[in-house]
Amino acid sequence: MKALVIFYSRTGTTERVAGLLADRLRSDGVEVTLEPVRTEAKFGIVSCIRQMMAKASPALIQPVPDISGYDLVFLGFPVWADMPASPVNSILGGLKAPGGRRFALFATCGLSEGHKAALSIVTSRLVEMGHEVVAGRGFLRGFLRKQPLPATAEAAGEFVAEVLSGTRLGC
Ligand SMILES: Cc1cc2nc3c(=O)[nH]c(=O)nc-3n(C[C@H](O)[C@H](O)[C@H](O)COP(=O)(O)O)c2cc1C
Repeated sequence: MKALVIFYSRTGTTERVAGLLADRLRSDGVEVTLEPVRTEAKFGIVSCIRQMMAKASPALIQPVPDISGYDLVFLGFPVWADMPASPVNSILGGLKAPGGRRFALFATCGLSEGHKAALSIVTSRLVEMGHEVVAGRGFLRGFLRKQPLPATAEAAGEFVAEVLSGTRLGC
């Protein structure tokens, strides 16, 4: 099985979760490609908010990778103002493959329920594009920059197990 883990991360939290997911997938025998998505502009907090108000799709440094050769695509992003961070618009707009891919979504956030609306927005958009979303999960960061992520390796392991059991059963 081949999986792509594609993510945007402004301050490293989503990147860390992506790495944990990739490690766990590899230990389960999955061939993994890890693909960070980077924007041309660097955003401070004020420019993040401006991006969200403008419903922007910021320019990416590199095109979105081709997802067509993968059995599973893990797509990860931070939550900004209850929504997927604006670079997610650029990622979704840059997907070239026709529908029919399987996605697992992961969102990182500062509030315990912060991921829910954002996951549901991305799920709807992928389904409209003809893809399937097999699972979605939020990973809590906590608001203080240096605060450790609670139980993230364990949560990442549980999430991968959930996704793989559904996928291998063909659910
Ligand atoms: C502009 C901005 C808006 C945010 N809005 C929310 C929010 O509505 N709900 C929430 O739970 N967390 C919110 N957060 C916290 C981030 O989602 C969280 O810190 C995330 O893990 C950062 O991911 P990153 O380090 O990969 O960039 C916000 C952060 C920023 C910078």
